[in-house]
Formats: sequence, structure tokens, C-alpha cells
Amino acid sequence: MNKFARIIGTGSYLPPTIITNDDLSKTIDTTDEWITTRTGIKQRRRVTNESTCDLATIAANKALEMAGINANELDLIILATTTPDKIFPATATMLQNAIGASCPAFDLQAVCAGFVFALTTAEQYIKTGAANKVLVVGSETLSRIVDWNDRSTAILFGDGAGAVVLSGSEQTGILHSKLFSDGHYLSSLQVSNNFINETGFIQMAGNEVFKIAVNRLSKLAEETLEEVGMNSEQLDWMVPHQANIRIISSVAKRIKLPMDKVIVTLENHGNTSAASIPLALDVAVRDGRIKRGDKLLMEGIGGGFSWGSVLVEF
Ligand code: COA
Repeated sequence: MNKFARIIGTGSYLPPTIITNDDLSKTIDTTDEWITTRTGIKQRRRVTNESTCDLATIAANKALEMAGINANELDLIILATTTPDKIFPATATMLQNAIGASCPAFDLQAVCAGFVFALTTAEQYIKTGAANKVLVVGSETLSRIVDWNDRSTAILFGDGAGAVVLSGSEQTGILHSKLFSDGHYLSSLQVSNNFINETGFIQMAGNEVFKIAVNRLSKLAEETLEEVGMNSEQLDWMVPHQANIRIISSVAKRIKLPMDKVIVTLENHGNTSAASIPLALDVAVRDGRIKRGDKLLMEGIGGGFSWGSVLVEF
């Protein structure tokens, strides 16, 4: 049995091809000003030839390097993705092969909440002693399921990957986690196909998703803090799912957390679904904002809806 699951390495990767708001305004009826004020996004990344596994491999190798361990020391790999490279085999097994690991590996699908679901699952393996070193990755090539003619969704989504390595520890680590799903809202945010042999695209009722996201994430943050006996002043950072600056700032305002304690990277890559939290985490760890001992609240919500939080002493 391990007392804590501790983050010992982080990594991320964005594909090099950049699509700016001005680029989009050449093909759809939109403007940089509209996108920036409604979402905070300035640009997104789009894969050319890379797969979800390719992005995951680069992010995972960076996290392993920071953790100072070899892939063959891993006991488990969990890959959160909405855009697996194939229906099967699991993209996690492709990643296992690409990084040279030999442990069990599986995909987990909870859309934009995928990373918090995967982190919570990994924590359970570690706390029971079933695993000691776990790689958790969020990787997405959402550009493959975006309808680039639909201005209400094409402006939002992008490609990328983020990863963490967790280790069993007697020091601090994950302090608390909480997951929810409510399948009443299946059509509010979904991919349009029902059939395996038909390519579908993201469809979204933006206004409805916005309100539900703000309400659920604020309530979740308040409950999480209450359950660990903390107030928001004792939080060092919120590392939210990078969906939309207005959702993020509304949640921060409701829980009375100043925006200078919120990690925001979405202007650079848009909503990368399961990849967005580990991407933002890695940026802030590497630029020195997040330090050992800091208390971080990660939160995400996505289609379903599914949502969850993980509170960490880093
Ligand atoms: N450029 C310019 N105009 C646009 C546009 C675009 N890209 N997309 C929509 N519009 C127009 C609409 O057609 C509408 O025009 P009308 O008033 O003439 O009918 C107007 O802008 C307002 O549309 P609306 O959908 O009400 O905008 P909004 O303020 O709700 O903003 C979102 C739209 C998508 C930015 C917002 O709803 C949102 O952020 N939702 C949450 C999305 C999200 O984060 N999803 C992922 C969760 S994991």
C-alpha cells in the first residue's frame, strides 16, 4: 500500500502547424475579435501526418525524462483520448510499444474530463499497491473530428498531448479526487455518427454547455475544498481544463480565486480535450510557476456530461 500517488514528471507536445483566428476567418464567417472575446483562443494546432500516438509518445518521453525513470520501469499506462488512432487496438498499446514499455496499457474515454478520470484511476492502482509507477497521458487529434465549415465549433478545438508520471510515495501527492457523470445531456455535446463505419463531427449546443460547465465546475471546486477543509485562499493554483477563458474566469470568480492563480494556456492551442490539463500543468511546471509543495486544483468537464476534480500537493 502506498500513502500517496505523487507526480514525479510532466511532459507535453503541440504539433507545429498553427491555425490562427485570422487563418480561420479566410474560410468561415468569423473574426479574430469575435473568437478572442468569446473564448480567449488566438490559435490552435493541427496535425498533418502525426497520429494521437505520435503526440502522446513525445509528451510521455518528456515526462519520463523529468521523472528520471525508464519506460520499462512503468507498471501501468493509461491513455485518455477521444480520438484513438483506431477502434482497436487501444492507442495505449501503440504508445507502450513506441516508448519501449512492457506493462499493461489501456485507453480511457471521458472526453474533456478524460485526464481527471485517468489520474483518479491511476491513483487507485497506486494507493492499493497494485502499481507503483504509472504513466497517465491525455492525447488528442480533434482536428480529425472537427467540421471545419462549422464556425460554432471549428474555432474551439485543437490537437496536442500532455503526460504525467505518478509514483507511490510516503511524501505528499494526490490529496483528493471526485468524479461525476450525468448522461441526461448526450446530445448537447457529441460526435454526430452512431455507426462505426461513418465519420462523424463534433456538434455542440454552446450556450447550454457554457452554463452547465460553469455551474458544475464551481460547485465541484467548492465541494472539493470543503471536503479537504481548505478555502480557496489556501490554493496555490487552479489548473483547469482549457476550454474557454470565460468558463475559467467565471468559475474562478465564483470560488473567489484571483486569475493570477489560474494557469491559462488556451490562447496558444485551443481546447485539446483530454490533453489540456496535463499540457497546462507541464507549461507551468517548466516555467517555474508551479513548485514542489504547491496545492493545485485540476478540474475538467466534457461530453456526457462527465466531470471531475483532482486536488494535489505537488
Ligand atoms: N464567429 C462569429 N459569429 C459567430 C460564431 C463565430 N465563430 N459562432 C457563432 N456566431 C454567432 C451566432 O450565429 C450568433 O449569431 P446571431 O445572434 O445572429 O444568431 C451569435 O454569434 C451568438 O451566438 P451564441 O452561440 O449565442 O454565442 P455565445 O456567446 O454562446 O458563444 C461559444 C459561443 C461557443 C463561444 C460559447 O457558447 C461557449 O464557449 N460555449 C462553451 C463551449 C465549450 O467550451 N465547449 C467544450 C466544453 S468541454
